[in-house]
Amino acid sequence: MCGIVGYIGNRDAYPILVKGLKRLEYRGYDSAGIALRNDSTQVYKCKGKVADLESHASGSDITGKIGIGHTRWATHGEPNNENAHPHKSMNGKFTIIHNGIIENYSLLKKKLGKRGYKFESDTDTEVLANLIEYIYRKGDVTAELAVRLALTKVVGAYGLVVICEDTPHQIIAARKGSPLVIGVGNGEYFLASDATPIVEYTQSVIYLNDNDVAIISEDELVLKTIYNDKLTPHIQNLELDIDQIEKGGYEHFMLKEIFEQTTSIHDTIRGRISVQKGEVFLGGIQDIIPNVVDARRIIIIACGTSWHAGLVGEYLFEDLARIPVEVEYASEFRYRNPIIYKDDIVLAISQSGETADTLAAIKLAKKSGATVLGICNVVGASIPRETHAGVYTHAGPEIGVASTKAFTAQVSVLAMMAMLVGRKKDCLSEEKYINLINEFYKLPEKIKSILEQDNYIKELSAKYVESPNAMYLGRGYLFPVALEGALKLKEISYIHAEGYPAAEMKHGPIALIDEHMPVFIAATKDKSYEKIVSNIQEVKARKGNVIAIVTEGDTVIKEMADYVVEIPETCEELAPLLTVIPFQLISYYIAVLRGCNVDQPRNLAKSVTVE
Ligand code: AGP
Ligand code: GLU
Repeated sequence: MCGIVGYIGNRDAYPILVKGLKRLEYRGYDSAGIALRNDSTQVYKCKGKVADLESHASGSDITGKIGIGHTRWATHGEPNNENAHPHKSMNGKFTIIHNGIIENYSLLKKKLGKRGYKFESDTDTEVLANLIEYIYRKGDVTAELAVRLALTKVVGAYGLVVICEDTPHQIIAARKGSPLVIGVGNGEYFLASDATPIVEYTQSVIYLNDNDVAIISEDELVLKTIYNDKLTPHIQNLELDIDQIEKGGYEHFMLKEIFEQTTSIHDTIRGRISVQKGEVFLGGIQDIIPNVVDARRIIIIACGTSWHAGLVGEYLFEDLARIPVEVEYASEFRYRNPIIYKDDIVLAISQSGETADTLAAIKLAKKSGATVLGICNVVGASIPRETHAGVYTHAGPEIGVASTKAFTAQVSVLAMMAMLVGRKKDCLSEEKYINLINEFYKLPEKIKSILEQDNYIKELSAKYVESPNAMYLGRGYLFPVALEGALKLKEISYIHAEGYPAAEMKHGPIALIDEHMPVFIAATKDKSYEKIVSNIQEVKARKGNVIAIVTEGDTVIKEMADYVVEIPETCEELAPLLTVIPFQLISYYIAVLRGCNVDQPRNLAKSVTVE
């Protein structure tokens, strides 16, 4: 969580930092702050968004060619002015911003307290600032060494940027568990949690690895480990376009990203599915495919929306490739002593590639000797660097906190993988394989035709703006879509929503249904169509409101439901890619009509880098 920015060079730091924080605000937005280095270090910070910080700092001295900034997602201490970053050490020698959690902060705080240290905030971060200062003063060491020594005493995760009063032309950055990228300019350096604040200044970046420390001045960057082993910085070229991280005329990033799905799916499959050759090719895992073919089972690990995509993956792999699949919440998997065999394939799915629980689950799986693959959207993120091999989704940057285009991209990759393995294992007939390949290519047009119903979907959404609860149902491949629909609604509109397998409704949730309950049902034509028609009748018999996503031309459900959204026909394996889109739009419009902050819903952050 949280966004970190930093600048050192010849330009004024403030505008670069503020712009960068705005770009990173999706990562955390409960308070924001900035430190600017002049003769001394000025800190401006306050509760609220970056815009509040701007008002707070206006009229003050905002000059300085060196600075750091932070937008917070609180873990330790409520979001208020005192807990906002940057934090200064007690005697003002160090100013730091931090992303992550210092797990042993309480013990360190006690020890520092005994040595006379007082604390102004409730954060773990301030403890680290004081620990660095304590080591610096006590040990009479350089700022860099104090930072490195302090980090050897710390348990937990950090992306850290430090300024020391005694070395005014230096920024020290370190990483363990939380991402940090350094942009390399001409006589200047940029620091950020991800590349979005950097891309407009330079395309040359260095991704820090765990335990790396960078000591940066205007004209030099020294990279080493916290144990003082020298490293050679690996400068990479950014593949990110500035247009991709702007709203491009849409009111919200979420809406932009929903509409981008016509092209993002195409980007995901481009170069990987060939209609002419009738084949699927996934370069990133090509060498590992034989292991997948021989796998005893596949364990999919993920969180949130990515977990829902994983659930679709379970249906796909079992159906098309006949490999048993378990889909695990990364956060449960890693803590419950799971049985992992050497011939298991562990497949981690993550949009951001930084989710702490998923990352930790990957490390656990690697230790057990399993082959670990990744499906990730952000190029160069921690997860793709930790896995043995993987496939990028190439959906482009997803800024809206509610995941949309990443989900369809993940499902597309899972479908391609399952097709490829299924064909290799001969579980999937040539005919069906070719049919799926052809169908994939038709998806962008089909998505376009769903998006053309935008106004109609907005109108029907308006009917449910006041509903306190909602239910989402689906069967088979569409059960995960029901879960995803419910998650979308609750996270951005704060309406309580339940996703359920439609057939399971009668075992409990049916008791919730009355005339006030909207029931959103994914009910396109597939092998359980007749069954879901019965489920709709069960809801209607109890006066529930039914909003059904149906296959174009469906007349049966149209007669029963209060509203239907018709979507083009496709094969059932790919149906989640279409049925989810009306659900995304419905949750978007309900949230907008309720006046919610769609791109930055309360209490959430885009990448959850804490455990
Ligand atoms: C989805 O809308 C979420 N906000 C959230 O559940 C997300 O999918 C989850 O945190 C996992 O993130 P990742 O894909 O970046 O690992
Ligand atoms: N643990 C720190 C805090 O609560 C950092 C949180 C963050 O990553 O934003 O302030």
